[in-house]
Amino acid sequence: MKIKATIILLLLTGLTFAQKAKKGKPVAIAPKEIFVAELIAKMTLEEKLGQLNLPTSGDIVTGQANSSNIAKKIEEGKVGGLFNIKSVQKIKEVQKVAVEKSRLKIPLLFGMDVIHGYETTFPIPLGLSCTWDMNLIKRSAQIAAQEASADGINWTFSPMVDISRDPRWGRVSEGSGEDPYLGSQIAKAMVTGYQGDDLNKSNTILSCVKHFALYGAPEGGRDYNTVDMSKIRMYNDYLPPYKAAVDAGTASVMASFNEIDGVPATGNKWLLTDLLRKQWGFKGFVVTDYTGINEMTDHGMGDLQTVSALALNAGVEMDMVGEGFLTTLKKSLEEGKVSISQIDNAVRLILNAKYDLGLFHDPYKYCDANRAKTEIFTSSNRSEARKIAAQSLVLLKNENQILPLKKTGTIAVIGPLAEAKENMAGTWSVATKQENSVSLLAGIKSEVGASAQILYAKGSNLDYDAAFEERATMFGKTLHRDNRTNEELFSEALKIANQSDVIIAALGESAEMSGESSSRSNLEIPQMQKDLLKELLKTGKPVVLVLFNGRPLVITDESQTVPAILNVWFAGSEAGYAIADVLFGNENPSGKLTATFPRSVGQIPIYYNQKNTGRPLANKEGKFEKFRSNYLDVANEPLFPFGFGLSYTSFDYSNLSISSSQIKANEKLTVSVDVTNTGNFDGKEVVQLYIRDLVGSVTRPVKELKGFQKINLKKGDKQTVIFEISIEDLKFYNADLKHVAEVGEFEVFVGTNSDTTNKIKFNLVD
Ligand code: BGC
Repeated sequence: MKIKATIILLLLTGLTFAQKAKKGKPVAIAPKEIFVAELIAKMTLEEKLGQLNLPTSGDIVTGQANSSNIAKKIEEGKVGGLFNIKSVQKIKEVQKVAVEKSRLKIPLLFGMDVIHGYETTFPIPLGLSCTWDMNLIKRSAQIAAQEASADGINWTFSPMVDISRDPRWGRVSEGSGEDPYLGSQIAKAMVTGYQGDDLNKSNTILSCVKHFALYGAPEGGRDYNTVDMSKIRMYNDYLPPYKAAVDAGTASVMASFNEIDGVPATGNKWLLTDLLRKQWGFKGFVVTDYTGINEMTDHGMGDLQTVSALALNAGVEMDMVGEGFLTTLKKSLEEGKVSISQIDNAVRLILNAKYDLGLFHDPYKYCDANRAKTEIFTSSNRSEARKIAAQSLVLLKNENQILPLKKTGTIAVIGPLAEAKENMAGTWSVATKQENSVSLLAGIKSEVGASAQILYAKGSNLDYDAAFEERATMFGKTLHRDNRTNEELFSEALKIANQSDVIIAALGESAEMSGESSSRSNLEIPQMQKDLLKELLKTGKPVVLVLFNGRPLVITDESQTVPAILNVWFAGSEAGYAIADVLFGNENPSGKLTATFPRSVGQIPIYYNQKNTGRPLANKEGKFEKFRSNYLDVANEPLFPFGFGLSYTSFDYSNLSISSSQIKANEKLTVSVDVTNTGNFDGKEVVQLYIRDLVGSVTRPVKELKGFQKINLKKGDKQTVIFEISIEDLKFYNADLKHVAEVGEFEVFVGTNSDTTNKIKFNLVD
């Protein structure tokens, strides 16, 4: 009772939360439930709906509507948070309106798409996942949270954990690839990186796992398209990373644009209430994606009032940009279509998050101008980003050990991505200052110094088609289209190529060829660049292809003709330095693919953890067999499998052994293997363990990742790597969607990628 009285007193003093905090006394605030309940009791219906409203500052517009008159709405208590507004000064000003001019002085949440770093930018998430290093991934999220919170942000719309088996979909760049096990580990690393162990600290922020759910499986790989999938596939393959993020305590969840079982996720009660809250026990709040409620009208679910009520009833708490909640829920309440307790509950969850962040103690706690000056884009953050970026690069081919390069002679750097710092950060890098990113050419020059001569030519535009280039270089991520003729561009490049000892060809996609609304039906390197590459190869000089990409590309031709290929994604603000580190051998490449590279678009969807079918190929060479599951015109095998990545050194696997050939439900097995560095460089290797359940009550994949360890081995050294297998690793969702392990025979594979045939057997017994 005493506490209650204190709160009421504080709320009635007329002082803003900020003024109270400024007076030097810590604001005495009651326990969360009491504080929030008291606050809700004071709110009008309009103020309650205001808390559920999330406009954008207008810097970035991706949906149907932009937000207008924001300042006035904040004053009227009609805004709960704002997103994609950048800088501590601007955020402080806006927060001031909320806590000094609105009646109840409730502070705002400030969200942003801090997807792979803030101003210090890390590789795009697909690249980051190729590090297979949970400490590094977590560290990247910690640094992102540190910088974002120093600049006023307290909520990020990340991690994006959508599993995808379809590289036509441009948003594969924003996720961690195709595997549910690896995806779950990364989801956990990201959530704990952003949120830390205490949201009340000033350098941690709310995470928001997205896009819930199944957004990575749109038909035809076309963004926002229909998703239709069996529950058994959902549970086994697509839902685990979202669940892992919820288990790790993510404070918020973003509903996806797609439909699930015929009902858009934003209005899907099974998804947002039965699964998320009841089965998984999620306690935070759900926000829609950008105009997700309004878009249900185009999905054919009814007018704005109908779809807004549908969303609230399904379990949405916050409405991003569309203002369906703000403008229609009052009417729905009067008509009995929603209840006041549902609205109160939604408000409670939003206020809880503000409380957890400590905004009621001090609404300006993330608005410290000094932190903004000293904690963002620091040299130590940049040097960590450089290390992380180097580990995200995947060496796909290295014939005759062309790489690492020597810093001697003349090196030609050619291609539209060579001097393209605007593109280095990759898609969804809202906070990045493009001018700060390091291009490949700049990175190489700084690495080589005066030791070798560096010659540069652009050689080609992104493609022949200028209109395509315009669509593919949005948001200022220009490639500075060159108006010279194609012949002029080629001949300038060939001239320097002929004068050089080695050619580095910087080719591939522009940053905005992947990401949102960037689906492709042709996954090859754009034709003009392919033609340039052919000309460069004709010179007979050694060519190293530095491949920029936001997705697995179809590089079947290049994999045959080019001697060395380094896949570099978009490696962030330090990209140029990191790529140079690998090209010249300061760092030995250790990245491993987390998404399968197809030989042709026709193989898609393509993924390693496929089913065997009733007619698998009988031959191991991939030769065509009539009436078997294969193609007339292409092999079944991918170009590069999941888990693949070369090193400058080589690793040998031997002595695979298992502690017992049987396991019971309450027991554990250990599997061990000796890994020897047999080459001439120290190096890191990701040792991967896969399991196959040979007989099941439902069909089981031919392999499933169940463990991995990244080890560091000096040349000549050997290490015994030990994995533990428990019953949890053998479980799957059966036809009744029960998570079970079934007795019978299992194979366990340990090797350097998902193609490994190095296996041993055991039995699960009663
Ligand atoms: C994207 C989300 C993003 C949101 C806010 C949407 O278009 O799908 O991933 O968080 O915009 O910028």
